[in-house]
Amino acid sequence: MSQVKIFDTTLRDGEQALPASLSAREKLQIALTLERLGVDIIEAGFPVSSPGDFASVQQIAQQLKTSIPCGLSRAVAADIDACGQALQVAERFRIHTFIATSDIHVNAKLRKSQDDVVEMAVAAIKHAKQYTNDVEFSCEDAGRTHIDYLCRMVESAITAGATTVNIPDTVGYTIPSEFGGIIQTLFNRVPNIDKATISVHCHNDLGLAVANSLSAVEHGARQVECTINGIGERAGNCSLEEIVMALKTRYALLGLDTNIDTQEITRASRLVSQLCNMPVQANKAIVGANAFSHSSGIHQDGVLKAQNTYEIMTPESVGLNKNTLNMTSRSGRHVIKHRLHELGYQDSDYDLDTLYASFLRLADKKGQVFDYDLEALLFFDQQRQ
Ligand code: KIV
Ligand code: ZN
Repeated sequence: MSQVKIFDTTLRDGEQALPASLSAREKLQIALTLERLGVDIIEAGFPVSSPGDFASVQQIAQQLKTSIPCGLSRAVAADIDACGQALQVAERFRIHTFIATSDIHVNAKLRKSQDDVVEMAVAAIKHAKQYTNDVEFSCEDAGRTHIDYLCRMVESAITAGATTVNIPDTVGYTIPSEFGGIIQTLFNRVPNIDKATISVHCHNDLGLAVANSLSAVEHGARQVECTINGIGERAGNCSLEEIVMALKTRYALLGLDTNIDTQEITRASRLVSQLCNMPVQANKAIVGANAFSHSSGIHQDGVLKAQNTYEIMTPESVGLNKNTLNMTSRSGRHVIKHRLHELGYQDSDYDLDTLYASFLRLADKKGQVFDYDLEALLFFDQQRQ
């Protein structure tokens, strides 16, 4: 099995997009939940950004036992020093430094030459190496960076000592074939590429963050950066639960795996949703309220006969107790019978045809029928007999 490292940036890229910051205590609670989930690297914050963020990164670094704490820094010495100082309480830690590489960012934002940007990146990586051997370098807006320059930057970063090189699609612009092609070209053209782990960090502006990350993995990337529930700037980041379950469900056969304990996914999703005050849409893959619920009678009949007729992964595998069969006017008799059985009733306690007719009348009026409705119908029909 080849491991794909999971780098979680809920506390940095995710948190920076929230209307209100999380408290230090909430950040620690999320970090410990991510560690329990089995995340390899936790980006805990951007220490130079505020004294509060510095203290929170430091506290998280102190508490983590198995996950590697990481802090973000621009490619400038003061940022890197703040990262090093906040993180050095931990035995092992990572400094993540970045600079933009696309023409639009280099010319309009940084207002520097391409040579200057390479020089800044190399100096930043060397500076970070004074604190730790574990240095990650990101080429911001790599998805829109000229491929020749990207190859040059990646090669220079590895020569300077970066042990992980991250290729972000910062604005979620690329499509899977193109993004996979960028990763493939790096593997073909950068001579020292095998000396570093290639990472990807995809944003979701076109809803392609997970697809782009998977395409990158197919072409050799072995770290994926992601957030719980996909929270992050604008349309968010690659969602941890989706990339992990896609790898587990479809890529295990290709020999790819992660260290994530997937049964912890639901717990982590709910915690992040609550603390960040970001509800999860009902039809969100893996963690939405409807992700394991079935409504049509045909589907309900199918899953009662064999769960995998309409479920490609089990609810238990993501930490849910079981699936849900919604009782609506589309439900058949078998679902009513199944539900009453689960509620402790025997077949002899009711007449299924009579009860089903009452059920349909109620469902047409009410939409969803709940357990207490079903029991009320059953008692009412019993009294009429
Ligand atoms: O989206 C991005 O490019 C980033 C970098 C700082 C990695 O978040
Ligand atoms: Zn980002």
